[in-house]
Amino acid sequence: MILATILVAAAVCEGCHGAGGNSTTAGTPSIAGQPEIFITNQLIYFREGLRPSPIMEPIVKGMKDPEVIALAKQFSKSPVKVLAEGKADAALAKRGNALIATMFCGQCHLPTLAGRDQVPRIAAQREDYLLATMQAYRDNTRTGADTTMAEVLRGMPDEDIKALAHVLARKK
Ligand code: HEC
Ligand code: HEC
Repeated sequence: MILATILVAAAVCEGCHGAGGNSTTAGTPSIAGQPEIFITNQLIYFREGLRPSPIMEPIVKGMKDPEVIALAKQFSKSPVKVLAEGKADAALAKRGNALIATMFCGQCHLPTLAGRDQVPRIAAQREDYLLATMQAYRDNTRTGADTTMAEVLRGMPDEDIKALAHVLARKK
């Protein structure tokens, strides 16, 4: 019974997050290969209204913990695809890579930027989503239980966020 419910839910998720969780939908993040704990936490933040999203809130409203965990497990094991098209702009890539190194993103997100535990994968994420969500952290409109990223990105100019999003979207 629970298994059947999860199969239905996963198909619903893929309608926006893409086949296997690799998103081709504007503004919608890929969830393939995200750490299981990260996905679990974010779904609970949406469900409890800790992370505001008019789109995700109704989807997870009333969802039970075992279903949340089963979905997180399923998408965390799904293979990641780099979907960004076109070669990286040289100037943006230089700036973005320099920021990744000097701001030690890899210390939390791992040197591969694949994430671990409560820290998300940021390599191969959609560029538009990375841009929007980093601006939201900086502007304190993406909230949750974890304020780490608001501190990391405080005061960062848009041009730097743009360079980071550009280069991260193209990393495997
Ligand atoms: C109608 C489209 C839609 C559907 C259906 C949908 N999502 Fe989402 N999801 C979104 C959007 C848009 C966001 C980004 C929200 C934001 O940051 O404001 C999101 C965000 C997320 C995030 C946060 C990812 C991150 O990197 O921060 C997770 C996890 C997630 N969704 C999982 C799921 C799961 C699991 C399902 C199925 C039960 C699902 N979603 C169904 C549109 C959808
Ligand atoms: C001190 C640890 C730490 C450092 C350093 C750090 N991050 Fe994070 N990052 C986190 C945590 C924890 C989260 C999840 C926060 C949450 O739940 O909202 C996160 C979330 C993110 C997200 C959201 C991804 C998604 O799918 O929703 C992005 C993008 C991001 N970080 C980019 C970066 C970049 C770029 C750098 C370097 C400039 C960086 N982070 C440095 C800990 C860190």
